[in-house]
Amino acid sequence: MEKGKNALAINGGNPVRDKPYPEHSTMIDDIEIEEVVSVLKNGHLSGFSARPGNRFLGGEKVQEVEKLFAEKFCVSNAISFNSATSGIHGAISASLVSPGDEVITSPFTMSATASSIVMQNGVPIFADIEEETFGLDPECVESLITERTKAILAVNIFGHPAKLSSLKEISKKYDLTLIEDNAQSPLAVNEGQLAGTIGSMGILSLNYHKCIQTGEGGIVLTDDDDLANHLRLFRNHGEVIVGKIGLDEMPNQLGYNYRLSEVLAAIGIGQIHKLDFLTDYRVDLANQLTKKLLEFDFLQPPIVRDESSHVYYLYPIKFIESKAKFTRDEFVNAMKAEGIALNAGYVQPIYLEPMYQHRSQKIIGCSFNCNLYQGKPSYELGTCPVAERIHFNEICITDICKYPNTSHEIDEFILAVKKVSESLS
Ligand SMILES: Cc1ncc(COP(=O)(O)O)c(C=O)c1O
Repeated sequence: MEKGKNALAINGGNPVRDKPYPEHSTMIDDIEIEEVVSVLKNGHLSGFSARPGNRFLGGEKVQEVEKLFAEKFCVSNAISFNSATSGIHGAISASLVSPGDEVITSPFTMSATASSIVMQNGVPIFADIEEETFGLDPECVESLITERTKAILAVNIFGHPAKLSSLKEISKKYDLTLIEDNAQSPLAVNEGQLAGTIGSMGILSLNYHKCIQTGEGGIVLTDDDDLANHLRLFRNHGEVIVGKIGLDEMPNQLGYNYRLSEVLAAIGIGQIHKLDFLTDYRVDLANQLTKKLLEFDFLQPPIVRDESSHVYYLYPIKFIESKAKFTRDEFVNAMKAEGIALNAGYVQPIYLEPMYQHRSQKIIGCSFNCNLYQGKPSYELGTCPVAERIHFNEICITDICKYPNTSHEIDEFILAVKKVSESLS
């Protein structure tokens, strides 16, 4: 076992990085503090009330942050929610998904994408992903459309748009609603248009890990005023007010309490002004990393499609085993021991989670177990072979391309790749 300066940390040598990365990736400073203090001083910690009138739409800060998001994303409506999960649930409801209906989505995403379909008693049908940017493969989506399909829920994963133009064409051809889970990709561009604004609805997340945050929170973007009204009813106990304001065509409207508080909205007002800076910051670090990774032929940096952009919520690297003398997992374990933030795989394809494997009647009464459902969804191993191969064998992910890391963390990453790859060869 080699000892001394160049010994791998996994073998007892000194690591390349010996301190943790900074906890926060967003800039919370005086702007957010002043906004929050102003809410605390006036005492209106929430402006919502589930009755007809302006308070049905939330307080001053909620309405202000919604206006700012609508302007920033050039849409007519931005509706805040207390998380992206509840926003996606709202979008599924606004697409009129009901028991017996299917929604085609990606297996290569955070669990909430698919569970929001189950929450509305719909059935997630998982289509495979494409090799380059890990979004839904349009051909696979089209092959899975049945008379039960109600919507396509695309995911713009890691910071790059899915193939939204093709998915939009398919949704038009079959009269389906296209929803974009854009939790990870605010300001990414797809053929000249902002991701999150190409489908009928697009959802952003403002949770603690995202490019900008309110701790917890979500925003649904839409240009369709009817969908926007449905979303507003859904977020705030809509069943209470439909009778009172004459929405007689919506007798079955069911609402939740998915409201954002004034305190969190106030933080969002400060944060949205930093979205450009924090995105450019990520892109700059990612471009540095991409350039430097080119010297290692066993690692393929992220691909950016023509006329599109990546905002690098995460930085995915494909490990090409045929060009390495070690496995992906040996490489990643050695990198981790060097103190470098790198993981093998993303999340396992969602259908392999116990919830989809067991489909317990007790927990999920309707959705797949509903007697109104006539289909037979596939959740077996092998359902989406590309997603499985990429997760289990190929992808490595780092999140170092973000504020307040600098070129120093990029150089350190490269130093570690060099050290590990030379020592393991
Ligand atoms: C792709 C994707 N969708 C949905 C969510 C859920 O977001 P939230 O935590 O705001 O509910 C996340 C969160 O990480 C996500 O990454």
